Amino acid sequence: MTMQRDTKERLDVAKIRLDFPALAQEVHGHALVYLDNAATAQKPQCVIDTLNRYYSLENANIHRGIHYLSQQATDAYDEAREKIARFLGAREAREIIFVRGTTEAVNLVAQSYGRPSFRPGDEILITAMEHHSNIVPWQMLAEQTGARVVIAPIDDRGELIWSEFEKRLGKKTKIVSLAHISNALGTINPVTKIIQAAHALGVPVLVDGAQSAPHIRVNVQEMDCDFFAFSGHKLYGPTGIGALYGKAALLEAMPPYQSGGDMISAVTFEKTVYNKIPFKFEAGTPHIAGVIGLGAAVDYVSRLGLEAIAQYEHELLEYGTKKLEAIDGLRFIGTAREKSAILSFVLASAHPHDIGTILDQEGVAIRAGHHCAMPVMERFGVPATARASFAFYNTKEEIDALVRGIYKVKEIFQ
Ligand code: ALA
Repeated sequence: MTMQRDTKERLDVAKIRLDFPALAQEVHGHALVYLDNAATAQKPQCVIDTLNRYYSLENANIHRGIHYLSQQATDAYDEAREKIARFLGAREAREIIFVRGTTEAVNLVAQSYGRPSFRPGDEILITAMEHHSNIVPWQMLAEQTGARVVIAPIDDRGELIWSEFEKRLGKKTKIVSLAHISNALGTINPVTKIIQAAHALGVPVLVDGAQSAPHIRVNVQEMDCDFFAFSGHKLYGPTGIGALYGKAALLEAMPPYQSGGDMISAVTFEKTVYNKIPFKFEAGTPHIAGVIGLGAAVDYVSRLGLEAIAQYEHELLEYGTKKLEAIDGLRFIGTAREKSAILSFVLASAHPHDIGTILDQEGVAIRAGHHCAMPVMERFGVPATARASFAFYNTKEEIDALVRGIYKVKEIFQ
């Protein structure tokens, strides 16, 4: 059973850090300062132990065997689905489909929901701040069906321009798909308002939760989104596993995404009858260890409490914003009023890749590049940014180390 911690309780970050073996190491002779959490998060020992135990003692295929280990693995797999359904506030566990990650989830919806029914002239509405994984699958779908991808623009802060979004949402819109939180800018989108506006026209909404599920409380029923996708590895879980939430009625009406074993209820050479949801969408032997490990990760963050996590990370954001904005020649890319703990920036004197390389020599891990969001870079007229992204195990002292590193970059490049 997933326990939700008292939201008033503050995180004991020093203690939490002990749960993450990766954080205790040195890099280039410095204590590692890991600020690349938007790319992937480090793993707590309980997740590592769960994977280790599964492969050491519990390994078996699921839904196929009658032997003890297979039963155990099947129970653990099904239990993880229940945990994730509770974590997202889904009505039923069968609304959770295991996928490789957010990218696969968006592809699944594009191909299984969109492809059979979208027609020439139909519109797919996304925003100008999307990750490539929420652009390219729709472009492919547009090529396949004759539909059109329509882009809602963003302003100089990196916020969606509401009036422009409203203008683009109309009778031709067949789906809205947008990031809950932008990975490149940190902007938190007003998803509830967007979903209400879309639903008023009968348009379903897919929320890309890759950057939100690990950092703020998500409740898909309260949000009333039709689809919600997230990746396990950003949520302190294993790589190669994630989940797609979909409203049961939508999933039931959609054809399978891939075919093979486990997604059928009967096969003859004349005809195949598909399995029920969620199994209809999980062809082949799934990432059993990943699913069980993701369940352990969800237990872990739920014990800390998403409210407590969000509150602490917001403190880091405020502290980091204040410290970095005091640096001469530093410009933030993404200054939305509602922001997650992501600081994307450029320096007048150094290219983001140089910033990243010099910081790495100081033991500070950030990401430098276009963050798989090239249209965002184009919108802000930069080729790339340096990006520090925080997790609940980061500290203000680590932000101070980042700041010292940036001064070092400036020294070298002046
Ligand atoms: N989408 C991930 C990032 O933002 C990989 O870094």
